[in-house]
Amino acid sequence: MASKQTLFRIFYRIGFTPWDGHPIGQTLRDLVEGAGDTPALPAGSALDLGCGTGDSSIYLAEHGWKVTGVDFVPKALSKARARVGAASTSVNFVQADVTHLSRASIGADFQLIVDNGCLHNMSDDARDAYVREVSAVAASDARLLIVAFVPGGRFGVPGIDPAEMERRFAPGWTQLSAGDEQDLDAARLRRGSARENTPTRYYLFQRRP
Ligand SMILES: C[S@@+](CC[C@H](N)C(=O)[O-])C[C@H]1O[C@@H](n2cnc3c(N)ncnc32)[C@H](O)[C@@H]1O
Repeated sequence: MASKQTLFRIFYRIGFTPWDGHPIGQTLRDLVEGAGDTPALPAGSALDLGCGTGDSSIYLAEHGWKVTGVDFVPKALSKARARVGAASTSVNFVQADVTHLSRASIGADFQLIVDNGCLHNMSDDARDAYVREVSAVAASDARLLIVAFVPGGRFGVPGIDPAEMERRFAPGWTQLSAGDEQDLDAARLRRGSARENTPTRYYLFQRRP
């Protein structure tokens, strides 16, 4: 069977990238811009896991964050770099596997780590490595925002159950909130690529020192 990396390379080569160009999710916007009585997170260093063509990375950079975007598909990164050039902002895009971040020389102490659609497509073993590697590059009080399908989603993505999210991150992270990620659903519905009630969830964690 083809590896996930090969599959994603093929997706980018044939232009099957239905995740591209989505509106930035409400949860990320609330964190970065503030919401109600909750102030915006002070801008610092951010890591975008499985950054694709850079939607979240570019949004964060435009809001003052120093961003590193990681993806294992070169074509995604070359598109992301071209978009950043056109937007006259700056992001450090690095080709790497998020399950081997410590080999990637991307530094550490990231204050905000975001994952829009990466973890939910991984195997069990890769998920173990992801939690270990992401925890190793997080600042002591980092926030981690993951957006993921629950099982039963589309495109053969295995998805991830809320209980599994809690279990996997409980040792080092406190779950601050979780819920439906409505903006992504709305975008997919507009493009006709989603059913009603698409099971997409967000999970916001804070690293325990
Ligand atoms: C569903 S796409 C989402 C892209 C982007 N986050 C967005 O919101 O547009 C998932 C991305 O994760 C990348 N990816 C999946 N597994 C990865 C891994 N183990 N290491 C690095 N990138 C990975 C894929 O190449 C793809 O670009």
